[in-house]
Amino acid sequence: MTGTEKFRTERLVARSWRIEDLLLALELWGDPAVTALIDARGKLTAEQVEERLHAEIERERSSGVQYWALFDHRNGDFVGCGGLRPWIYTPGERNFEVGFHLVKRSWGKGLATEAARGALDYAWQKLRLSKVYAGHHPDNRASQRILEKLGFEFVGDVFYEPTGLMHPSYCKTA
Ligand SMILES: CC(C)(COP(=O)(O)OP(=O)(O)OC[C@H]1O[C@@H](n2cnc3c(N)ncnc32)[C@H](O)[C@@H]1OP(=O)(O)O)[C@@H](O)C(=O)NCCC(=O)NCCS
Repeated sequence: MTGTEKFRTERLVARSWRIEDLLLALELWGDPAVTALIDARGKLTAEQVEERLHAEIERERSSGVQYWALFDHRNGDFVGCGGLRPWIYTPGERNFEVGFHLVKRSWGKGLATEAARGALDYAWQKLRLSKVYAGHHPDNRASQRILEKLGFEFVGDVFYEPTGLMHPSYCKTA
């Protein structure tokens, strides 16, 4: 995979989303099991999924980062997305958060933790960041566990507009 490859880990390769990735986007964000704890709308329509895909592509244009599309480089299987986004709660500062959304068949294999490690290495080495933020839905125990495993420290509860809830939020320094 050339050109748009962003990072590579033991099992995963991350690349930028493309406009022609709609079927992959539908497999991911069209599944209500995936969006249950990340979007208050519950099940997204095909149109809403397409908007999400376009938003990721636009985010890379405006901020240089995405929750990039993830594939298993051993067999080419689509795994989901993971990467970085601007952290909007520190206006005036260039801060980012790490996040991951995996298709259901990829859950429970350590892949989100591996993707987050790849995204953090990218943040430290390519973007030269000194800290990265993260947050999760208050009921998302798997995300909480992942952030603990990665060494994130709790900084407070922060309002997260897509779910309309206060999300426990964390920071990790390089
Ligand atoms: C949340 C999500 C990313 C987890 O992905 P994953 O690849 O299964 O995660 P990992 O295997 O890397 O790690 C999950 C950890 O949480 C633990 N875990 C899973 N479910 C749990 C639960 N209900 N309670 C406590 N711990 C739980 C796992 O045992 C594992 O910890 P361990 O390695 O110590 O055993 C995945 O389920 C997903 O994409 N969900 C939909 C989108 C989403 O909610 N994304 C998170 C946004 S913050």
